[in-house]
Amino acid sequence: MIAATSSLKTADFRVALVGAGTLGSAMAKGLAAKGYHFSAVINRTIGKAEKLAISVGSKVFADAVFAIPPDTNLIIIAAGAAEIPVIAKDLARGKLSFKNLYAVHVSGALTSDALQPLADRGASVLSLHPFQTFPRTGRNGKADGGRADSKSELFNCYFGLQAAEVEGLEIGKKLAHDLGGKVMLVPKDAKTLYHTAAVMMSNYLVTLTSVSAEIFGSLGLKPKEAFKVFEPIIQSTLANIKAGEDISDALTGPIERGDAGAVERHLTELSEQMPHLIPTYAALAMETVRVAIRKGSITKSEAVEILDLLETFSRRESEI
Ligand SMILES: NC(=O)c1ccc[n+]([C@@H]2O[C@H](COP(=O)([O-])OP(=O)(O)OC[C@H]3O[C@@H](n4cnc5c(N)ncnc54)[C@H](OP(=O)(O)O)[C@@H]3O)[C@@H](O)[C@H]2O)c1
Repeated sequence: MIAATSSLKTADFRVALVGAGTLGSAMAKGLAAKGYHFSAVINRTIGKAEKLAISVGSKVFADAVFAIPPDTNLIIIAAGAAEIPVIAKDLARGKLSFKNLYAVHVSGALTSDALQPLADRGASVLSLHPFQTFPRTGRNGKADGGRADSKSELFNCYFGLQAAEVEGLEIGKKLAHDLGGKVMLVPKDAKTLYHTAAVMMSNYLVTLTSVSAEIFGSLGLKPKEAFKVFEPIIQSTLANIKAGEDISDALTGPIERGDAGAVERHLTELSEQMPHLIPTYAALAMETVRVAIRKGSITKSEAVEILDLLETFSRRESEI
């Protein structure tokens, strides 16, 4: 039987991390700094496991989960979503003290069901996903955009927590709080929608910035130069969203003013110069019309005029 979390002190945990990648390393370092004892670091590439094991004071490092010491009572799985169920199956075949074990995965895309083989053996399972972004090494070889030192501050965020049992919820809250974060409880059947929002919020903001930089490229600006121009408007927009009573209060621009002429000029120019961007522009503009209606800044007929334009240009583009 798993002890109530409230009776488990930080020093009682013997933690194994599986997946010493970007997020796993940051979490392990954050927890080690809080006094968690690491019993093992496991990673497919053993060199990464060794490096992190040294940094978090773990004597054991390996490239397979079978090396995890049996007295481990908390396993954090920080591999990709496709790997987590496979790792859970491997772990369930091992010699662990399952009835005293908490198993956590950090994927936003999966629920605790991905750890069912461990639950079947008596472990308490949960998913704990930081609503935060930790960039992996890109083509430019930079590990994290130069933000490595500030990683622990990045955990000052919400963690989407989902667990079938109260013990899992308690351990999830403890881990999130010890890392410096807060918890948002996510019902199991809402996990996919929760992850959809996370992806749209962070990933598509990157995509939007990339698209705008591409357009500025035709003005002769390099992406870094373009970003210098974008940064103040991004910051002000965020501040306006934060300050407004409703998100729609932060909306400005041609659609907010009901200016169909400006939208038509954008679409005409894009269809001549960058037709591949028409679907993206049209999809976002359609949603922006809904935001403007919510704000109450455009009339129904202005909305219809803009929507008609978007449909005409989208249809024309898809027929080419
Ligand atoms: N990055 C983010 O912003 C972020 C935010 C929230 C949640 N997450 C979640 O965190 C998890 C990891 O993401 P990440 O960005 O940290 O990816 P990552 O940097 O690629 O790290 C994944 C690590 O897992 C290791 N791994 C894969 N399969 C393994 C296995 N079978 N056994 C042992 N180790 C294995 C990989 O080893 P090798 O490199 O040696 O192959 C790699 O070091 C994902 O589930 C993701 O959804 C990420």
